[in-house]
Amino acid sequence: MEIRIFKNRKIASEAISQLIIDSINRKDIKNLGLATGSTYQYTYYLLRKAYERNDISFEKLLTFNLDEYLDIDSSHDQTYKNYMYKHLFKYVNIKDENVYFPPTTEDNEYTKYDKLIENKGGIGLQLLGIGQNGHIAFNEPKTSFSIKTHKIELTESTRQANKRFFNHQIDQVPRYAITMGIDTIMRSKRIIVAAFGLSKAQAIYRMIKGPINEDCPASILQKHPNIKVFLDEDAAQLILKGDVLNDNIN
Ligand code: F6R
Repeated sequence: MEIRIFKNRKIASEAISQLIIDSINRKDIKNLGLATGSTYQYTYYLLRKAYERNDISFEKLLTFNLDEYLDIDSSHDQTYKNYMYKHLFKYVNIKDENVYFPPTTEDNEYTKYDKLIENKGGIGLQLLGIGQNGHIAFNEPKTSFSIKTHKIELTESTRQANKRFFNHQIDQVPRYAITMGIDTIMRSKRIIVAAFGLSKAQAIYRMIKGPINEDCPASILQKHPNIKVFLDEDAAQLILKGDVLNDNIN
């Protein structure tokens, strides 16, 4: 794991967006895995700006999102598909037919998403956020490390964390989602994890220094061969205490 610690989320997001731009321009990746939530909002803004400057084209890019809520109307502005259009897709030249989300049809054939990803050549670079409870995508604690795309019931902690997107009304937060599984994520060729703010410090500590077990889904990332972690100083607070990880402090 390469760990990079930045003064704040703005500078970290600049580094992440530059890495994405370089990877697309060098044609290192043709398939990009995307996350929603607040962590990458500024990164997506910077990608829009790069597109306006002609520094990047999304024309040939395929995107695969990590997850999607189930019990929510498709017109709701908090579906993850609508989130992606609002923050990135509607401003850039990505083709609608190249935008993929986990299947939300109730046929239980969710692993067709894994097959689709594989048939399209696999995910070259996957962006991940992390939940306060150590979830990655919507793989909540105790989810099997070998699971593929599946339906999940969101934990109380995740619904509480996400109610800020639903007028702070917990009842409005969906209860179910479809998520890439941990196996799906671990097959990505490269992974970026970003985390900002003190509320993520404990999860980041467990991801990097904790035992690898299903109590902390993100701990499996210790086994991925090509992963970069982008943190602000708050999210890095606990890993900087004690035996210091002082490589690459920006
Ligand atoms: C979102 C996702 C989640 C978030 C995580 C952090 O697609 O899969 O795992 O990345 O919950 O959310 P934020 O970024 O809102 O703190």
